[in-house]
Amino acid sequence: MTANAPLTNDRFLRALRREPVDCTPVWLMRQAGRYLPEYRATRSAAGSFLNMAKNPELACEVTLQPLRRFPLDAAILFSDILTVPDAMGLGLYFVEGEGPKFERPVRSAADIARLAVPDMGTELRYVTDAVSLIRRELNGSVPLIGFSGSPWTLACYMVEGGGSKDFARVKSLALNDPAAMHQLLEVTTDAVIAYLSAQRAAGAQALQVFDTWGGVLSPAMYREFSLRYLKRIAQELPRGEGADRTPLILFGKGNGAYVEELAATGTEGVGIDWTVDLGDAARRTGGKVALQGNLDPVTLYASPDAIRAEVGRALDSYREGNGGSREGHVFNLGHGMSPDMNPEHVAVLVDAVHALSRR
Ligand code: CP3
Repeated sequence: MTANAPLTNDRFLRALRREPVDCTPVWLMRQAGRYLPEYRATRSAAGSFLNMAKNPELACEVTLQPLRRFPLDAAILFSDILTVPDAMGLGLYFVEGEGPKFERPVRSAADIARLAVPDMGTELRYVTDAVSLIRRELNGSVPLIGFSGSPWTLACYMVEGGGSKDFARVKSLALNDPAAMHQLLEVTTDAVIAYLSAQRAAGAQALQVFDTWGGVLSPAMYREFSLRYLKRIAQELPRGEGADRTPLILFGKGNGAYVEELAATGTEGVGIDWTVDLGDAARRTGGKVALQGNLDPVTLYASPDAIRAEVGRALDSYREGNGGSREGHVFNLGHGMSPDMNPEHVAVLVDAVHALSRR
């Protein structure tokens, strides 16, 4: 095995350690995707999203595409959160215009009892192969982020069999048979920990958990069915010590009410959406964690001047809530990008983050 090149841009990792930076680092959730013509070309040559995600060379190519255009401070593995339930035997497929679906959703206690942690060296080998290849191709330019869905968010798709408007099936399971729901969340948490560990071993330099659907739960159910398992991940995921520690970021849509509790899990970073004031979140977490976020993605549809103004507002809000310092802030959107966004506006956003935060 050849050693990977040392990092030339480590702003993102420094920010997660709450160390001083020359300017605030920025990356964007869904920075690789359909808004880029070169992504659409690779995807059409591959035939489908899944063919692309399951082929390490193509996954590497689309991971690097946004970095060729914009001076982003991190790369994120091109893959999907639903690779894990797919490897658990649920049969992932995509219907054009309808999003992800499972052939064999989890509907009963018997279905749950059959689930097991997939073998990372075989069933999810295509992901760790992609991580190693991307890390090598990045050649030390910026750090590589690996990721997973949160246990609750994965359970939503596993039980619903796809996306959902009201999450009636998965919430009913949690209410009617909490023991079965916990059994599902336990095995999924074991799988998430194994998956993130395998990505780290393959070369991922930071790890993010997407709790996209935690915010649809009542506070009591959030604490019981989502937060509890996020905490288990933060506590049990092995990630090294000191400057070599691989930081973990817990991102959640609609998690604004819980930032103190998330900061207390032992994670290094918390990702928040745009419904929370960054300065308030910084005050409430008191320097315990780094914060990531939180521009409303819809801002990218606005004019360049409006984008710059909103970037400035978010940077200022963080600094004001963080005792006058920019340390510990990773700039991002509050959720992922959409296919009809204008790449030129992304360039405006990334440049504004760097220019407006530079010391
Ligand atoms: O951020 C990145 O650039 C990395 C790539 C990434 C994808 N999915 C690629 C993708 C990441 C981090 C994800 C995570 C993911 N996948 C989440 C959590 C993040 C979030 O948005 O909250 C969720 C809920 C999923 C499940 C999923 N996969 C959905 C809802 C969809 C969209 C379906 C659609 O048609 O819009 C996918 C497919 C998917 N994953 C696409 C991409 C770029 C679009 C696929 C395509 O090209 O058709």
